[in-house]
Amino acid sequence: KIIPVILAGGVGSRLWPLSREFFAKQCLPLVDKEYSLLQQTILRTLSLEVADPIVVCNEDHRFLIAQQLQSIGVKKSSIILEPKGRNTAPAIALAALETVRSQSDDALMLVLPADHVIRDLAAFEATIKQAVELAKDDALVTFGVQPMRPETGYGYIRSGENFAVAEFVEKPSLEKAQAYLDSGEYLWNSGMFLFRAKAFLGELAAHRDDIYQAVNHAYQQRSEDLDFVRIDAELFSQCPEESIDFAVMEPTKKAKVVPYVGDWSDIGAWDALYDYADKDADNNVLLGDVMAEGASNCFIRSESRLVAAVGVSDLVIVETADAVLVMDKNNSQNVKKIVKRIKTEG
Ligand code: GDD
Ligand code: MG
Repeated sequence: KIIPVILAGGVGSRLWPLSREFFAKQCLPLVDKEYSLLQQTILRTLSLEVADPIVVCNEDHRFLIAQQLQSIGVKKSSIILEPKGRNTAPAIALAALETVRSQSDDALMLVLPADHVIRDLAAFEATIKQAVELAKDDALVTFGVQPMRPETGYGYIRSGENFAVAEFVEKPSLEKAQAYLDSGEYLWNSGMFLFRAKAFLGELAAHRDDIYQAVNHAYQQRSEDLDFVRIDAELFSQCPEESIDFAVMEPTKKAKVVPYVGDWSDIGAWDALYDYADKDADNNVLLGDVMAEGASNCFIRSESRLVAAVGVSDLVIVETADAVLVMDKNNSQNVKKIVKRIKTEG
């Protein structure tokens, strides 16, 4: 059986004012009205032969996450609580150690970020199944997506023969990203991975033994209550902060890439949600109690009041009970700056 490992550590500050410190984006029903991104991520794995999931998240979100798992019928899980996130390499290493302890070091881990949207479940299932044989040969399997733009926030993979990874470049410069896109030879790294626990831990120890040692040390001192696995704050804070992409996927010789051809979206900011959603005749996405007259290309979402928009275009308007965002859609990345100011200026 495959063990779903869900990375649910981020807050998603670019989706303010809907996302908040205590209500992270993966816990919100952003795309689907019924289920949060986290719940959808777990539900997506159920067509595969899976064991109880492991969720790695911030300790502040433990009750919300436990409750969300329970409400979709997950009876047993391991919820690993990070006092403070150290990025994805340590988070996945914690899950790998937990897998070795609760299953075996041969067990296959399917690492899934909790903030992706995938609608084509058949394509997802078929792609994962295709990767299983490679992972059983101790490969670290990534899933490659056709790139659409010179995005600098993603990893780029050049594939060789027989699923080999010829090159893995995490977050390249814009010039490089553009060249990769133009060459037609690169895929985006989807951020999902399939590997045996021991294959990942072996490569982590080979390339970043400092991270491996620090995580192992912290994990050995864990405490457990119910489904929660608590990691010691003092020990975990000594772990270097790094992503799996830089720490392992770039340097390893054991990477393989399986192309993923279904739909896939990393919902990072409001413009990504706009791009993903179904639009009306004026290219607007209107959610909740919203009226638009002569508006176009807008994303408008209301939580608690009627929101009316007249004659505007390319705006994002997000209304909540205590904060309203009005933004040029092309500025979606800059919401972070407001969140930062709210923290410092009150
Ligand atoms: N538990 C935990 N702890 N989860 C974390 C932490 C952490 O410290 N840091 C990040 N995560 C979670 C995020 O919530 C997200 O679901 C996932 O891990 C990936 O982290 P991101 O910070 O969103 O990574 P990225 O988008 O910059 O880059 C990754 O994903 C891209 C595709 O979306 C890389 O794998 C890229 O290569 C890839 O293209
Ligand atoms: Mg991301």
